[in-house]
Amino acid sequence: MSCINQFKGTGSDGESISVVYAEQPSANIAFALAFTGDQLPRLVHWGRPLADPKAALALYDATRPQRVSGVLDYTPWPSVLPTQAEGWMGTSRFNVARDGVELFCKFVVNNVTIGKHDNNGIAGADVPTVTVNAVDNEQGVGLVWTAELLPGGLIRQHATVRNLADGELEVNKVELGFALPANANEVLTTTGHHLRERQPQRHLLGVERIEKNSVVGRPDFDASLLLAAGEPGFGFEHGDVYAVHVAWSGNSTLTAERTPYTQTLIGGGEVLLSGEIALAKGDEYATPSVFGAYGDGLNEIGIRFHSYVRSLHPELTAKPRPVMLNTWEAVFFDHNFDTLKALADKAAASGVERYVVDDGWFGSRRDDTSGLGDWQIAQDVWPDGPKSLKALADYVHAKGMEFGLWFEPEMINPNSNTYRAHPDWVLKPAKNRMPMEGRHQQVLDLSNPDAYQYIYNSINGLVDELGIDYIKWDHNKQVTEGVSPYTGRPAVHSQTLAVYRIWHDLKAAHPGLEMESCSSGGGRMDLGILRYASRVWTSDCVDPVEREDTQRYTSLVVPPCMMGEHIGHSPAYATHRATSQEMRMTMAFFGHMGIEWNLLKEPDEALAKLGEWVTEYKKHREWFAKDICVHADQCDPAVRVDGMVKPDKSAAIYRYTMLTTSSTYPNAPVHLPGLDPDANYRVYPLAVNLNLDASGANVGFSPLGWWNEDGIVLPGRALTTYGIRPPELNPAQAALFAAVKA
Ligand code: GLA
Repeated sequence: MSCINQFKGTGSDGESISVVYAEQPSANIAFALAFTGDQLPRLVHWGRPLADPKAALALYDATRPQRVSGVLDYTPWPSVLPTQAEGWMGTSRFNVARDGVELFCKFVVNNVTIGKHDNNGIAGADVPTVTVNAVDNEQGVGLVWTAELLPGGLIRQHATVRNLADGELEVNKVELGFALPANANEVLTTTGHHLRERQPQRHLLGVERIEKNSVVGRPDFDASLLLAAGEPGFGFEHGDVYAVHVAWSGNSTLTAERTPYTQTLIGGGEVLLSGEIALAKGDEYATPSVFGAYGDGLNEIGIRFHSYVRSLHPELTAKPRPVMLNTWEAVFFDHNFDTLKALADKAAASGVERYVVDDGWFGSRRDDTSGLGDWQIAQDVWPDGPKSLKALADYVHAKGMEFGLWFEPEMINPNSNTYRAHPDWVLKPAKNRMPMEGRHQQVLDLSNPDAYQYIYNSINGLVDELGIDYIKWDHNKQVTEGVSPYTGRPAVHSQTLAVYRIWHDLKAAHPGLEMESCSSGGGRMDLGILRYASRVWTSDCVDPVEREDTQRYTSLVVPPCMMGEHIGHSPAYATHRATSQEMRMTMAFFGHMGIEWNLLKEPDEALAKLGEWVTEYKKHREWFAKDICVHADQCDPAVRVDGMVKPDKSAAIYRYTMLTTSSTYPNAPVHLPGLDPDANYRVYPLAVNLNLDASGANVGFSPLGWWNEDGIVLPGRALTTYGIRPPELNPAQAALFAAVKA
């Protein structure tokens, strides 16, 4: 059971102080905030629980800075929202203005409440919460700041800013932060571009500020799901590390900052455009939630995020993830009833349970130059009658599969009937100038109630008409110069809220409807959209070699069972790299498995193999929705070991991958993270990796003595240290094996 307590005392300078201490014992995590006078609180502990929570009072004295020469009379000791009025000399984190003139606020705390609540959406009342009400009366600005300690151990901060005075209050920036221990100065973020999302980059943080900004109306490919700062050399399995994530699908920033006077602060918030938020008296602006995760290694950070995201999505465990087929890389825009029906037959025969018709079914959308925004079924391709889209949906349903359909509702081709009828429905910076196009498209203005209603009604109607079970929601253009002609203001903030509203309303209107967030692959995945999305499309690149790290770093926030992982064509369309079918299937194994491949052109042997792998996947997928995802630290840059471990450590499945040639020959033994060191485990290859001949005899995938159904029994401690000798694999090969308590 969690706890939250407030202790009062007196500091060595005679000042009265209080400490709020919150703990989630099951997640082995706690934090402490110190309050003094009427100032905003300071984070004085974050990590493992303290043996004596009351001793947190002494942390105020123990960590406060002394006065030094050359600065203001109070040495900066950043609060949760530091301002110059409290002596903060770093980058401005709170910026509000009236009539374009910046206000410098000094917040006075007038009320602190602690308690537990049921955290709307998370079952149970086990979320310790501290809420701080503060005000700058003279400037007419109110602030409510909240921190919650979620059951899986994430800290969630958010704030609202209220205009208490006459005249508009412009809100330009609210950046919430976490102060870290001083040695947390190695920073990890990810970068990327289309077809190569979430590639790690690291550096030591000097006395400086670094920012990862997303300013194109979505997190984008380069967005870091996390900014992590930890002790130098931290890895997946070891090292104190603290990470922050902004739960927002529009413009956002993630930052790490050290000044000559303070330790590292990590944090983030929404990036607001000038004039985007203007509050009338009494109105308020709510920040996105900023999540913090502490871990001994990145694996523990992933566990915390997965626990939270899963708590939002009971469907993950209630319904084992249906194996999908998506038509995109199978047929691209080449739609017709006979082909897609034949593909549905092959899909069903391979064990597919959800059939998703991708782009190309509506309006004049025979390629990407026209028709986007015309959400009416294309009569020239899907004529009413026996070969209609409805007939295909019925056929798919009759085969026992769910029917899914692709939409890109926020976007519009200027060459479309909808644009011709409503040229004013598009975001644009000036009356006579449109933003630069991307993929021949512009962005629909969802601040405009007519445009919003058109989109909602179109999708809602089609869900009813076709019996749609699943929506793949795409977003393929960076939102630049996004001003709403309807409101006359920048509209990324309102656009983001409008998308959340449509997703919420569609799901509420159609219980059981699942939705996927796609944005040219992984351009929009964050805990904002993941409140609603049951799946993300991880990357448009399904080349399994490229996918290894993309999936690995995506899995630090997104549970693998929510990551779309598709078995595609070889050579891959994105890279022209040829890979074996086994490699492609292995890389899709831990995630939400799908197929994006023209099965009509594949020989029976390939389909039979695919069917076997789908069957094997189905044996484990129920557990993948609950398992702990682990990644091993390996010194060989060619090698990856990733695993899914049952929470009680009774069993695990590991994937051993060789990306390139290895520095050792044969490959060095690999250790298996996450097991119980005091138990014995039988380690053996999964059936699909055994290579049995028609009579069932093992004809050998590997000459290793243990590579057979019997495997080998080893102590957990040996497996987690020296480990096992893996099969010798060529580059771009991977193998799966299990470890089950003996
Ligand atoms: C984007 C998506 C793809 C596919 C195409 C369709 O690129 O990421 O998966 O849906 O659009 O145009």
